Amino acid sequence: MTFSANGSEESELYHAQIHLYKYAYNFLSSMALKSAIELDIADVIHNHGKPITLSELASALKLPPSKVTVLNRFMRLLTHNGFFAKTTIPFQNGKEGGEEEAYILTPPSKLLIRSEPICLAPYAMGVLKSSYIERWHHSKKWITEDNELSLVESVTGKNVWENLNGDPDALIRFQESMAADSQIFKLALKECKHVFEGLGSLVDVGGGTGETTRFIHEAFPHIKCIVFDQPQVVANCTGTQNLSFVGGDMFESIPSGDAILLKRVLHDWNDDLCLKILKNCKEAISDKGKVIIIDIKIDEENDDRELTELKLNFDLVMLTLMNGKERVKKEWEKLIYETGFSNYKITPIPVCGLMSLIEVYP
Ligand SMILES: C[S@@+](CC[C@H](N)C(=O)[O-])C[C@H]1O[C@@H](n2cnc3c(N)ncnc32)[C@H](O)[C@@H]1O
Repeated sequence: MTFSANGSEESELYHAQIHLYKYAYNFLSSMALKSAIELDIADVIHNHGKPITLSELASALKLPPSKVTVLNRFMRLLTHNGFFAKTTIPFQNGKEGGEEEAYILTPPSKLLIRSEPICLAPYAMGVLKSSYIERWHHSKKWITEDNELSLVESVTGKNVWENLNGDPDALIRFQESMAADSQIFKLALKECKHVFEGLGSLVDVGGGTGETTRFIHEAFPHIKCIVFDQPQVVANCTGTQNLSFVGGDMFESIPSGDAILLKRVLHDWNDDLCLKILKNCKEAISDKGKVIIIDIKIDEENDDRELTELKLNFDLVMLTLMNGKERVKKEWEKLIYETGFSNYKITPIPVCGLMSLIEVYP
């Protein structure tokens, strides 16, 4: 189809161009966010304790005078994108009467305050600062070559875990980002307490450095919790009474428990490897046990556009990192029944809009 410059086609051309350019330039919104996090702008506004003017913000950030207009332009985009808002306050520089504009935090930037219990700045930086972004420049070569490697494997010759294990800074950034994201789970736990009630023991498979398990342990101190992850991940973790760390390989075997938790683990792997993990989970529980999966369920029919777009982005992340995938309900169901489980129940977790909780029974 070609466009001519008249009538409805003109309007279509206008909207098509806006759509195309918006997605071509989307990375600038991401990079402006990265700059705001690196400069700790949310903390500065928070610590200021009241709306902050541009010149107050520039001085708190110790910017040279030549960069005040740069800050103004960044703040304009970030405000447009919902990270900050503007209000008016009486003039701050001693002048009588009159008002000037000042910035305040919005709910998304409140999630960037480092002193708050729920701070997602490390999670966002885990994404925005990673070498992963550069690897996308090789995506055409990867898509056209005939092999089953992920983009990351194709570019680096190593899988994600090998890359992380060979780069201590990246490994720490990854663990910090996972730990930050788990903070949201603390709130979610209030909504799904019933899932853990009555358990005597729980194994958090791929539980990282144990943030999720610590929240469960706080809420249910009587449950004997094991965090099971790769030996190098748990090597420096110390447990407490009823909370221990075990290193191993979930593709080999998994410690036994009343319930096995798999939080954001299965989306890392293709269906064949998920079947292996789930079979090992099934062997680790009794007939009365269960597997608790916390992961994304793609639901284009019921989710709004923004949420679906985010879930589909996550799907490409998992695909390019390690040939993993986010799954629709039918795909979850297939995995569950092919493993030999008899039943399952999916519950959305409203506070983690992105995640669903899937209880799977032998
Ligand atoms: C995406 S992270 C999820 C971490 C944690 N469950 C959470 O929600 O924050 C996946 C975890 O699986 C672990 N993992 C990868 N391969 C593993 C294996 N073969 N055996 C045990 N854990 C493994 C990783 O070390 C990592 O901590």
